[in-house]
Amino acid sequence: MSIEPHSRHSGTAHVVVFGNEKGGTGKSTIAMHVIVALMQAGQRVATIDLDSRQRTLTHYIENRRSLAMRKRIKLDFPTHHCVARTEGTSVESSEAAEYDDLAQTIVAVEADHDFLVIDTPGTDNYLMHLGHSMADTLVTPLHDSLVDVDVLGTADPATFAITEQGRYAAMIAETRQQRRQLDGGSFEWVVVRNRLSMVGAHGKRLIAHRLADLAPRLGFRLVDGLGERAVYRELYSRGLTAFDDFDEATLGMRPTMSYVAAREEAMQLFSELRLPLTERIFYDTMAGTEQWQESAGKPVEMHDDLVDG
Ligand SMILES: Nc1ncnc2c1ncn2[C@@H]1O[C@H](COP(=O)(O)OP(=O)(O)OP(=O)(O)O)[C@@H](O)[C@H]1O
Ligand SMILES: [Mg+2]
Repeated sequence: MSIEPHSRHSGTAHVVVFGNEKGGTGKSTIAMHVIVALMQAGQRVATIDLDSRQRTLTHYIENRRSLAMRKRIKLDFPTHHCVARTEGTSVESSEAAEYDDLAQTIVAVEADHDFLVIDTPGTDNYLMHLGHSMADTLVTPLHDSLVDVDVLGTADPATFAITEQGRYAAMIAETRQQRRQLDGGSFEWVVVRNRLSMVGAHGKRLIAHRLADLAPRLGFRLVDGLGERAVYRELYSRGLTAFDDFDEATLGMRPTMSYVAAREEAMQLFSELRLPLTERIFYDTMAGTEQWQESAGKPVEMHDDLVDG
């Protein structure tokens, strides 16, 4: 079944897709951080887990739900849907069922949410491609290693000059072209360097050099992501993110300096994604002010019994 790119309509949710055909680069971890940051910014957020095999984002949200119930604390939750794994009689029928499931979910949430965050699997499959075709913003976390940069472009080992476009970058170029043909639309591609500090200063410089070289050629914006910290694994098992208030009660231990550093770098990452937030709080206040101004000019309504009395 061929991928039909999703046509975006104005006034519907902004779709943020997390993708990289390489597994374990931090897609689900960063997706959950972005989801919580968006909710804290007053945005109405829907989420879709397209990784129907691993279901990491779904487990993350389930862990959060069970923490909220166990500790009797109030936490924000997105409207979440995990696309069902289908095993039809043929590849075509499975893909058709997956497409329908996703299309129905999007129709159900896109009009009354500000953001739709889609986490895709780290394997090259139908749902992964479909997810990418729907992006307004595509976020690709990348391990800070030369091997991982190869998914974008391979380089001459001696000169480090780019010799070939990587498979994933080729897929993004194709998706972009389909979107342009379909509705003249496009998406912004942001590559996030994740798990920084895994390599020494020399290696880091090489990676930075390679990525800076690739960015304008492949059409992505480069952003620094999260540092390599064990706290991200601990936060996952509790269903929390660096944006949540963590005290001894929620964490089961005192927050360390690593949590504070994690929050700072996660905030920096979120702001550098430059997602188009809906200024709902502002509008609500304005609506309230207008109502107040309207009513201020009117005579005070009194109940008959008070007037008569
Ligand atoms: N900055 C980080 N520091 C330390 N551990 C991290 C960091 N980011 C992610 N991890 C850990 O790395 C593992 C893989 O991360 P995650 O599941 O977010 O990646 P993924 O790209 O979604 O993987 P997959 O392709 O399998 O879906 C998890 O155990 C996660 O807790
Ligand atoms: Mg994942």
